Amino acid sequence: MGEREQFRLGILGSGKGSNLAAIADACEAREVPAEVAIVISDLPGAGILARARERGLRAESIPPGKYRTKLDEEAERTYIAALQGARVDWVVLAGFMRILKGDFLRAFERRVVNIHPALLPSFPGLEAWKQAFDYGVKVTGCTVHLVDQGIDTGPILAQQTVPVLDGDTPATLHQRIQAAERVLYPATIAALLRGEILVQGNRALRASPKTR
Ligand code: GAR
Repeated sequence: MGEREQFRLGILGSGKGSNLAAIADACEAREVPAEVAIVISDLPGAGILARARERGLRAESIPPGKYRTKLDEEAERTYIAALQGARVDWVVLAGFMRILKGDFLRAFERRVVNIHPALLPSFPGLEAWKQAFDYGVKVTGCTVHLVDQGIDTGPILAQQTVPVLDGDTPATLHQRIQAAERVLYPATIAALLRGEILVQGNRALRASPKTR
């Protein structure tokens, strides 16, 4: 696909949708060469679906099936069909609280990105900002990475540090991290779609426009 073309994003989330809003804004402002083709949540009441619908975006909830932390096989097939039906080029995880594996990742090989609210590989898993707060680190942040078969593993595309202040609570720290996410995620997606990030094994390198 040529770098000037418009890509189609499928956004998956389970939360309130602040990352979706930032990405959709950046698409509308043409800072990201893409459009949001579909938003899917495992939770019918998730704020992300309401935020998508407010913007006139296609939004669907698809039940995850019988497991607590991942999609079951039937749900996985339904997610893949919905994303392929929407002709999605890239799958963007924006607070999607289900692990994606096997057939899903094969259907969108190296085309699934995630944002994690900590500096990976520190604090993978749930409530990473609280893990960092409880550990007592002085610096944390957020990480954008390609998704592979592991949990919060896969080549790191970009990271942004965020200080932990003495007066913080987990909630204030999470807010500061989310403010950083809203900048880092759209900017990283833009660079990825424009072919400005080269992934070599586990290392993602910035290609200068001249060397592309
Ligand atoms: C974000 O902070 C994101 O980093 C986190 O969920 C939040 C979703 O917020 N993701 C994870 O914890 C994934 N393990 P949002 O719905 O407002 O974008």
